[in-house]
Amino acid sequence: MIIIFLGPPGAGKGTQCKVLVDRYRLRHLSSGDCLRRERENDTDLGRRAQSFMDSGRLVPDELIVSMMIKEMENVNGKAGLVLDGFPRTLGQARELDKALRQVGKKIDAVLNLQVDDKELEQRITGRRSCPACGAAYHITFNRPQKEGLCDSDGAALVQRSDDTRGVVRQRIKTYHQQTAPLIAYYKQKNILHQLDGNTEIEKVTAQMCRLVDQLAVD
Ligand code: AP5
Ligand code: MG
Repeated sequence: MIIIFLGPPGAGKGTQCKVLVDRYRLRHLSSGDCLRRERENDTDLGRRAQSFMDSGRLVPDELIVSMMIKEMENVNGKAGLVLDGFPRTLGQARELDKALRQVGKKIDAVLNLQVDDKELEQRITGRRSCPACGAAYHITFNRPQKEGLCDSDGAALVQRSDDTRGVVRQRIKTYHQQTAPLIAYYKQKNILHQLDGNTEIEKVTAQMCRLVDQLAVD
């Protein structure tokens, strides 16, 4: 099964993907996490991506598409997959369709996590992330058991460098201009499912699991 998680920055894509991984044994591929790993390893791609990420703009399609297709090839053929943050432009979506067609696979469902802009800024500026496993916490809405430390591995939580108010506003603007058009693209293919993300984490999880259970039955 291949699922795409669509949604604006800070909507809760990463948070809900963790649940999918635990409950349905899907592999989680986040383009943002892949890019942050490239940066940490100081690769050519990481260096080229840095200025785009730091300014809240999208990394060019040609860099992202080749990185993500390579990552997908590394996933065991039988494992289900959830893509988070990719595709993010119509160009990326068409390239993904082409690559999947070549290997006889298809996207089973696109989950569109819808959250109002005013809520996003609050979620992102209060986020604290685990640099080791990528888990996201929030200083108010999703606190770790021990202040400042990841529940899973005990690593010290950090604030992402693109989680400042100015960059967040640009990321939201970029989303509306370049990523929101994907909603119509997948709707037209009849694989789009809406999730209301303007509610507590557990309620979003419940909606999502109902939907994925249904997909697994069909
Ligand atoms: P990326 O890392 O993908 O960031 P993003 O899409 O901006 O999304 P976030 O990771 O910020 O948010 P999320 O939806 O995962 O929310 P989370 O679960 O953490 O991309 C970063 C950059 O990389 C981009 O700006 C771009 O430059 C580049 N990039 C990546 N992919 C690319 C691509 N395909 N093409 C080109 N460039 C690309 O939750 C957020 C916070 O809210 C957390 O604190 C969480 O605890 C809290 N929270 C979650 N759910 C709820 C809830 N229901 N109620 C209250 N709080 C909640
Ligand atoms: Mg994320």
